[in-house]
Amino acid sequence: MAEAIQPIGRTVFGDPANAGNVLPEGEALDLLNEWVANERLRLHMKQVAAVMKAWALEKENLSEEEAYKWCLAGLLHDADWERHPTDHCRIIIEELERRNIDPAVIHCIASHGPRHFGVEPETTMDKMIYAFDELSGFVHASALIRPTRYEGLDAKSVMKKLKTPSFAAQVSREDINDAISRINIPLEKLISFVIDHQKNIA
Ligand SMILES: [Fe+2]
Repeated sequence: MAEAIQPIGRTVFGDPANAGNVLPEGEALDLLNEWVANERLRLHMKQVAAVMKAWALEKENLSEEEAYKWCLAGLLHDADWERHPTDHCRIIIEELERRNIDPAVIHCIASHGPRHFGVEPETTMDKMIYAFDELSGFVHASALIRPTRYEGLDAKSVMKKLKTPSFAAQVSREDINDAISRINIPLEKLISFVIDHQKNIA
């Protein structure tokens, strides 16, 4: 990114009275399609949403209702990036506050890049979006260079590419390492999970 992102400047978002309020999936997709023109960025957001939701259901054993919050955060976390690169995150946060969305979803979006936004991941949902955001992009880049794309792609080869700084250089290894250090899950396991749950998202 050419211009620096402005830190958000606060760490409390939304109104606790809105806990449980979500944007229905159709409305979230409308917002995504309206705000984001870049097909690849749209796909990235849908992939992070799918991985987040699957993790919430399969690994955290959350209900469909709770898992949808993880999905929603993934779906919208980069919604304002294209239109407002220097105010990335602040604009979508304000929009979701206006729409009275659950503060947990807003905080999750706000903490997906602590180095940029100045908001630390607190909950498991926050920590997982931070880890999955960069990993999802990296796994996708790893798939795109293969003739068979996701078919046959394994975590080991992705791990190897992570050690090649010139490959997908825009993906911050520093952020990946920082995110991993905050959760007690091996990187290879996370990468396998990402591959399995985003390969069929189009
Ligand atoms: Fe992202």
